[in-house]
Amino acid sequence: KKAKDQLIIDAGQKHFGATVCKSCGMIYTASNPEDEMQHVQHHHRFLEGIKYVGWKKERVVAEFWDGKIVLVLPHDPSFAIKKVEDVQELVDNELGFQQVVPKCPNKIKTFLFISDEKRVVGCLIAEPIKQAFRVLSEPIGPESPSSTECPRAWQCSDVPEPAVCGISRIWVFRLKRRKRIARRLVDTLRNCFMFGCFLSTDEIAFSDPTPDGKLFATKYCNT
Ligand code: ACO
Ligand code: ZN
Repeated sequence: KKAKDQLIIDAGQKHFGATVCKSCGMIYTASNPEDEMQHVQHHHRFLEGIKYVGWKKERVVAEFWDGKIVLVLPHDPSFAIKKVEDVQELVDNELGFQQVVPKCPNKIKTFLFISDEKRVVGCLIAEPIKQAFRVLSEPIGPESPSSTECPRAWQCSDVPEPAVCGISRIWVFRLKRRKRIARRLVDTLRNCFMFGCFLSTDEIAFSDPTPDGKLFATKYCNT
């Protein structure tokens, strides 16, 4: 019996018990107390952060069979701003981004995708810009010394092109990805960013895209 237990423990060190939490999406090792502790902490914080109770005067800008998109503007009531800040903190944590200070905080538009389970499952933060630099190629290869310092350094053109709207963050809750939530957020942004016109894909730019962000942006802009 002892030998058998030992076997399980040995075999288990890497993979045994790897679990994806169905609510918070964290991947952790259920058999590891430290991991479990971290999960419990993340779990509560995350679910509290994305919980959405709804507001009387919320600005619903799109509705779907599986949820709706709410727009939050800088001068909205403090509880709306607080929700946006909570979600942004979760997103920044996940992406490992430094908090960026927007150039024009007054002009930020935040779109939240609210699921029918009353959770914020998607977030898009946009700001007006005047120019953007086109991403030219794949990231600098692993042989390049700079890639370790800056893993997100795609090569960019140094010729600025006119643009109107910059997407500084786009995020979808891990368990809700590939359900066209990001696509619907960008569609809605194009429709609502400037009154009375639908922005073309040339007029929007993704800032500092992650690999996921780049795959999405490439696909989105080509279809
Ligand atoms: N790999 C390959 N193709 C992808 C991926 C991916 N990871 N994600 C999206 N696409 C493509 C697909 O073609 C997809 O269509 P399909 O599912 O019919 O094939 C199409 O884009 C549309 O995808 P959506 O379902 O609308 O995208 P989703 O809701 O899953 O959200 C997102 C995409 C926001 C990038 C999500 O993966 C995410 O939150 N990732 C982690 C956070 C992140 O990296 N955000 C981008 C940061 S960059 C920035 O903020 C400027
Ligand atoms: Zn969890």
